[in-house]
Amino acid sequence: AHVVPFYGTRQAGIITEAQDRLHFASFDVITDNRDELIDMLKRWTAAAERMTRGLDTVEGGALELGDYTPPADTGEALGLSAASLTLTIGFGPGLFGPSAANPTGVDRFGLADRKPPALQDLPAFVADAIERPRSFGDIGVQACSDDPQVAVHAIRNLARMGFGVVSVRWSQLGFGRTSSTTTAQATPRNMFGFKDGTSNIKSDDTAALDQHVWVAGADNPPGAQWMTGGSYLVARRIRMDIEPWDRAMLLEQEQIVGRFKGNGAPLGKVDEFDDPDFNLGDGTGPLIGRTAHVRLAHPDNLGGVRILRRGYNFTDGSDGFGHLDAGLFFIAYCRDAHTQFVPMQRALASKDAMMEYLMHTGTALFACPPGLQEGEYWGQRLF
Ligand code: HEM
Repeated sequence: AHVVPFYGTRQAGIITEAQDRLHFASFDVITDNRDELIDMLKRWTAAAERMTRGLDTVEGGALELGDYTPPADTGEALGLSAASLTLTIGFGPGLFGPSAANPTGVDRFGLADRKPPALQDLPAFVADAIERPRSFGDIGVQACSDDPQVAVHAIRNLARMGFGVVSVRWSQLGFGRTSSTTTAQATPRNMFGFKDGTSNIKSDDTAALDQHVWVAGADNPPGAQWMTGGSYLVARRIRMDIEPWDRAMLLEQEQIVGRFKGNGAPLGKVDEFDDPDFNLGDGTGPLIGRTAHVRLAHPDNLGGVRILRRGYNFTDGSDGFGHLDAGLFFIAYCRDAHTQFVPMQRALASKDAMMEYLMHTGTALFACPPGLQEGEYWGQRLF
């Protein structure tokens, strides 16, 4: 079970079991040459497929290319297993012309008519504290693995192979997955100490996936059919104000979330997977308040909208004031971020009591195509 198949109808890393570790990288494409970009994507695909089998980027790449050339593979994953490595690729708005990252950008690769309508940059939200160097990107690669060294090795080698074609715009390490994507997985905890991922779309809920995660043919004009069967990835680097949170009373923490900290049950209920009761009722018993996170994010509050969450905890050391620079690297997959993530985040940004302890410092949106068949390369159906 250490190898997750690279080829398939869907890209791995979306509904496949969430691994423990993340290395996410966002790249700017720095060439205007379409052939160079396609060539790199072909080389990336071959290397990615090998790495997900626990191999080096090219055969003998780490040690056997001779004494007088730099090794083609950096070598730190030699002897390690694939550790369930998945590599998931997505394309950002900047590849198709002007974008939030580069408003004066041009359509360098002749892809303007291939741009799906849903690949518009995300809007700004109330209380956003977006840092541009941590945001956006032309290509996003999500590397997930149960071994951090395997995930880092994969991103490092893709970056290295992309020399002259792409440059890393930002990257993020994550640990302790904050969601479960299968019913077999126990629900992990986020940095606020709460179970996170209880009420997530699970991989065996095919109907919900078709409705909320996978792009359908009818969603797009003919030029953008390359996205049929794919999904949109929303990334948000959400810093948590850990120290003030840690001074908040347990009762306040639970009221903010709307669930008990111990077993994750909704307030007023007993078991983790009990349905929340949003009835504000007669004032008896513990209630889920109007500003509780799970009330505002619940489909009942959003006209039925849902998303698939697949985020990770992060700690990037401490800031200059001695506070932990920690939080949640939020990743969501949805069929259309503008009709799903955007209304959800709008509701949260303006009303969620948790916002007092959160700062959204990074944002990105990527269009992740469907999976590949053997012989295909990443982005083949786009170019
Ligand atoms: C549920 C924490 C940000 C959407 C939850 C739960 C927790 C939690 C503890 C309850 C357990 C569960 O069902 O997973 C957090 C923290 C966040 C954060 C600490 C920021 C650091 C977000 C954002 C969104 C979001 C940005 C989307 C815009 C949801 C949804 C649910 C949920 C959809 C399930 C609601 C339901 O159907 O009951 N979150 N969350 N969360 N959260 Fe968040």
